[in-house]
Amino acid sequence: MDSLVDFSQPTIYFAVAAIIFNPTFWNTAARAEYHNKTLTKLAGGNALYGCYGLAITIFALGLIRDALYERALRQQPSNDLLLSFVSQGLAAVLVASGNILVLSSMWALGITGTYLGDYFGILMDDMVTGFPFNVTDAPMYYGSAMSFLGTALWYGKPAGILLTALVFVVYKIALTFEDPFTAEIYAKREREQKGLPKKQI
Ligand SMILES: *[C@@H]1O[C@H](CO)[C@@H](O)[C@H](O)[C@H]1NC(C)=O
Repeated sequence: MDSLVDFSQPTIYFAVAAIIFNPTFWNTAARAEYHNKTLTKLAGGNALYGCYGLAITIFALGLIRDALYERALRQQPSNDLLLSFVSQGLAAVLVASGNILVLSSMWALGITGTYLGDYFGILMDDMVTGFPFNVTDAPMYYGSAMSFLGTALWYGKPAGILLTALVFVVYKIALTFEDPFTAEIYAKREREQKGLPKKQI
């Protein structure tokens, strides 16, 4: 294991910290917004600006995490098997399809749809069912994990595969928090819309 991953390099722990911190941060921030309108208040009472602020913060945190990941990989040993032609080809395909999933998801959802707008009360009119959501239910997360794996294979770093496994687990955990919460926000709207005419009678 020592020859595969160098655990004596501090940079790998910075990457681990960033990978765990990011989804923890945006779930905590989004729930604070949902329950106490914390971010809307910070944005002077404007929910849309609050959501944009969160979007910029999440995006910046993502850039920092990606930089820490690449920095960690540079200090890790490479593995000849991983550097074979097959892996390089696979790496390119993974990074390209990962980016297609992430970018097409952002395109389909828009900024508020991508960055937890529903926690701010900014709901989508309809559920998006076209590409990439007919390929995977969480294209942002799976696309991002694919890019991490592709980068690991491209540089032939077993440590990158280990960190990608962590990314995957962290996203899986995030989804178990986010999916039921989002479903409930939309179910609530549906109940309220159905309930409205009865109250008017
Ligand atoms: C997903 O939807 C797109 C249109 O948005 C369509 O072109 C594509 O064939 C669909 N893919 C699958 C796997 O259903």
